[in-house]
Amino acid sequence: MLTNKTVVLGVTGSIAAYKAADIASKLVQAGAEVRVVMTESATEFVSPLTFRSLTNQPVVTGMFELASEFSLEHVALAEAADVVVIAPATANIIAKLAVGLADDMLSATVLATEAPVIIAPAMNVNMFQNSVTQDNLAKLKARGFTIVDPAYGRLASGKVGLGRLAEVEKIIGTIKQVLGRSGDLAARRIVVTAGGTQEAIDPVRYVGNRSSGKMGYAVAEAARDRGAKVTLITAPSALSEPVGIDVVHITSAVEMKEAVTRACAQADALIMTAAVADYQPKSTARQKIKKEAAGAGLTLELVKTPDILAEVKGDFLRVGFAAETEDHVANARQKLAKKQLDLIAANDVTAPDSGFTVDTNRVTLISRDGKVEELPLMLKREVADKILDRVVGMLAEKGGR
Ligand code: PMT
Repeated sequence: MLTNKTVVLGVTGSIAAYKAADIASKLVQAGAEVRVVMTESATEFVSPLTFRSLTNQPVVTGMFELASEFSLEHVALAEAADVVVIAPATANIIAKLAVGLADDMLSATVLATEAPVIIAPAMNVNMFQNSVTQDNLAKLKARGFTIVDPAYGRLASGKVGLGRLAEVEKIIGTIKQVLGRSGDLAARRIVVTAGGTQEAIDPVRYVGNRSSGKMGYAVAEAARDRGAKVTLITAPSALSEPVGIDVVHITSAVEMKEAVTRACAQADALIMTAAVADYQPKSTARQKIKKEAAGAGLTLELVKTPDILAEVKGDFLRVGFAAETEDHVANARQKLAKKQLDLIAANDVTAPDSGFTVDTNRVTLISRDGKVEELPLMLKREVADKILDRVVGMLAEKGGR
C-alpha cells in the first residue's frame, strides 16, 4: 500500500513511454499521490493529458511552464517526493544524471532530491550495451540509485535483445520495496512459506491440496513493504515471483523442511501459511504406474511428513495458520499449544470467500497468552498486515525495540 506516499514519476522519450501510463495508474490504485514530470521528447510519444487524467494532478513538462503549485520553486517537486522513479529512462537521461546535468525539469528534480531514485532503462540493445551507458549506470548505482534492469525481448527496432522496459509489476514492486526500507520491520529477517506441497506418487502424479500460494505471497510482500529482508519458501504456484524477496522453490514437505531450517538459522520470525501435506507416499514409483498393472484399484501406503513448525529449532517467533472446516478456534488453539507457537491464524475454509485460492480471507488470531481477535473478511494483503502488526509488537517485546 502506498497511501500517503508521493511518487514523482519521470517519463522520457522512449517508445515504452506508453507503459508509464500503466505504472501511473497502478501507483494511484495503490494509494500513492503521483506527480508526473515529462521530458520534451516524452510528450512526442504520449500526451501529458493522459497522465493528468490518470493521476488527477498537474503534469510538469518544462522548467518554465510549471503548474501553479510548483511555480518558481524548481526544487519543490524534489522536496515533495518520497521516491523518484524514471520509467522509461533513455540513454540520454541516464547520461545527464551520471554527470549531474540539470537542464530540464526531470534532471533538475533528480539532482535536487534527497529521496531515493529508481531508474528503469528502456532503449535499443546497442545503446544499452554500449560501455558509455553501462559506465553511467554503474556510476548511478554506486551513488545509491536503484536500477530496474531491462528485460530481454523484441525491441521497437525489430531487433531482439536486452533493452525492453522491465515488467510494470517489477517496477511497482521495486518502488514498494524501496519505500519500505524505513518501515517497522526494517532489518528484520522474516521467513514465509506458501502454497501446497506436492508428494510424489510417481513421476507424473502427486498427493496435494488446493493452496494457491496467495496468502503466503501476500504475507511475504507485506513484510517486504515494511522493510524486512524476506525469504519466501514456496511450493509450486502459478503466481509470479515477487520482486525484492529471496524466493526458494520446493516441491515436497521434506524439501520445505530443509529450506526452512536453512533460512531460519538467522530469522526473527517464521510465518507458515503453507498447506503442508501431512502424509506422503511411503515410496515413490520410479516409472509411471500403469493402470493395467494396478488393476481395478490402487492402494497407496502413506507415512507422516515432518511437522516443520514443531520441529525446526531456533530462537525466532513462530506463526502458524490452521485451515479448519469445523470448530476452527478450538482446533487452532490445540495446534498453537502442540506446536508451541506465538500466534496462530485460525482459517475457516468452508466459506466460498475465505481460505484456499480466493483473494480474501477470514481469520481469527489467537496468541500464546490466549487472546482471541476475530477479524472480518479482508483482502489477503490486509490479513497479512494484521498478522505483521502482531509480529512487530511481539518482536519489540522480545528484543526491546
Ligand atoms: O494459498 P492460498 O490459496 O491463499 O490458501 C491459503 C491457506 C488456506 C492455505 C492458508 O490460509 C492456511 O490456512 N494455511 C495453513 C493450512 C494448513 O495446512 O493448516 P494445518 O492446520 O494443516 O497446519 C497447521 C500449521 O502447521 C500450518 O501453519 C502449517 O504450515 C504447519 N504444518 C503443517 C503440517 C506439517 N507437516 N508441517 C507444518 O509445519
